[in-house]
Amino acid sequence: MAGPQRIDVHLLPALVEPQQLARQTVVVIDVLRATTTIIHALAAGAASVAPCLELDEARRIAAGEPPGSTVLGGERGGLPILGFDVGNSPREYTPQRVGGKLIVFTTTNGTRALLCCKAARRVLIGAFVNFSAVCRVLRDETEVSLLCAGTNGHVTREDTLFAGAVVDKLTSSPAARWILNDQAEIATDAWRSRMKGSTGAGTLSQALRASCGGRNLIATGQEDDIELAAQIDKLDFVPELDLTSWRIVRQASGLSPA
Ligand code: MLT
Repeated sequence: MAGPQRIDVHLLPALVEPQQLARQTVVVIDVLRATTTIIHALAAGAASVAPCLELDEARRIAAGEPPGSTVLGGERGGLPILGFDVGNSPREYTPQRVGGKLIVFTTTNGTRALLCCKAARRVLIGAFVNFSAVCRVLRDETEVSLLCAGTNGHVTREDTLFAGAVVDKLTSSPAARWILNDQAEIATDAWRSRMKGSTGAGTLSQALRASCGGRNLIATGQEDDIELAAQIDKLDFVPELDLTSWRIVRQASGLSPA
């Protein structure tokens, strides 16, 4: 890489103007659970994911597709939506249910964060389950933003930790010359102080359990999803949002198939 590279973390969508993301490669992060679920859905063979803001929009898109070709998925308040086929648990997105299908998907915070990225150059989907694949793609990018979805306008620990893990990894290469914003420094400090020197997944799942999203999942009896979200590098590809069709597709960036 000839010149310095820049990586900004935005701990909430409200902390960045959509125009600031122009020309950037943006990684959207909603570890618990939207981005973890999108990655699982595509790993299970879904054809693509259409992120939507509103329930009616999701129903309308599904109704415009050939019968049997779509799966309506998502949550409100962390719970499945009445009349939808699946909720927002990664474990619901099985090959039998989603193979070859278009997932029309709406969640409270994750799909909302994607909407801030219309001006971006590239939009990628990140979570701990594809951590190394994300880092591998970003190594060659010059202007990167890590956009945390947060929860209902509040910064969340789970998304901050993932952003910090990515910055930590990218900046640890001796040849790297990354310029960071202060939120990137804060996220990296959070990751290092919580995780450095630990044995990995167990500690991560403890940290996720104590996060905002983790507490919400425990309160609604969905805590198994926390363990799934803590499986670092379970999958080796980075989904990408096609900004023209507004569909998220599986991007073959990994070295080995998932
Ligand atoms: C969201 O987008 O708000 C989340 O993914 C919530 C959830 O855990 O279902």
